[in-house]
Amino acid sequence: MKIIVTENYEEMSQKASEIIIGIVKNNPNAVLGLATGTSPIGTYQNMIKDHKENGTSYKNVSTVNLDEYVGLTADHDQSYAYFMRKNLFDGLDIDQTNTNLPCGSAKDLKAECDRYNALLAKKVPDVQVLGLGSNGHIGFNEPGTPIDSVTHLVDLTESTIKDNSRLFASVDEVPRQALSMGIKNIMQAKSIVMVVSGKNKAAAVKGMVNGAVTPDLPASALQLHPFVTVICDKDAASLL
Ligand code: GLP
Repeated sequence: MKIIVTENYEEMSQKASEIIIGIVKNNPNAVLGLATGTSPIGTYQNMIKDHKENGTSYKNVSTVNLDEYVGLTADHDQSYAYFMRKNLFDGLDIDQTNTNLPCGSAKDLKAECDRYNALLAKKVPDVQVLGLGSNGHIGFNEPGTPIDSVTHLVDLTESTIKDNSRLFASVDEVPRQALSMGIKNIMQAKSIVMVVSGKNKAAAVKGMVNGAVTPDLPASALQLHPFVTVICDKDAASLL
């Protein structure tokens, strides 16, 4: 694991976006694995700025997202599909038919997981962007998720529901379930860039980097991947 400690969120976002933009410039047909949450928003803003100022094109890029809430349609303003359009896709020249997320409003969730796993077998990310949950989750792989898991239905933990409630009108509106790529899917990416910021993530960062590889802290599995770059601000790195 390569660890880069930055002064603040802006520098973290700058470094992450440089890596992703470099991959797209090098390979206009790149597959990007993407994440939601507040951590990658600055990275996505930099990608949009670079696209507008320097013309980096996403016309032939395709994307696969980590996860989606169950029960929210793609036009719901708290769905991850909506988040991705507003925070990234609408600002790029990407063909939105090449962007993929699990469908949280599918009638048959098991069939939807199968569809997504089949898609991921064909679309292997050149780089997978990750955030980190304060309980060590990646995607929505909560503590206890096996390392060989693939896309599956998740019951969100109380701590994740509470963490994510800040974006909803009230905690009661946070969906209790999600569809998420599994840890095995995430580990198949050719490279991984994780962005982490804030003191509330410091314990999870410490466990991920220095602790044992254990399902109790899903992000610890990343120790087994050969090309992981963790970019964290100094607050998130404060226990290293
Ligand atoms: C959610 C997402 C994760 C994300 C995490 C951290 O639970 N499913 O993919 O990494 O939140 O979010 P934030 O970056 O807002 O702290």
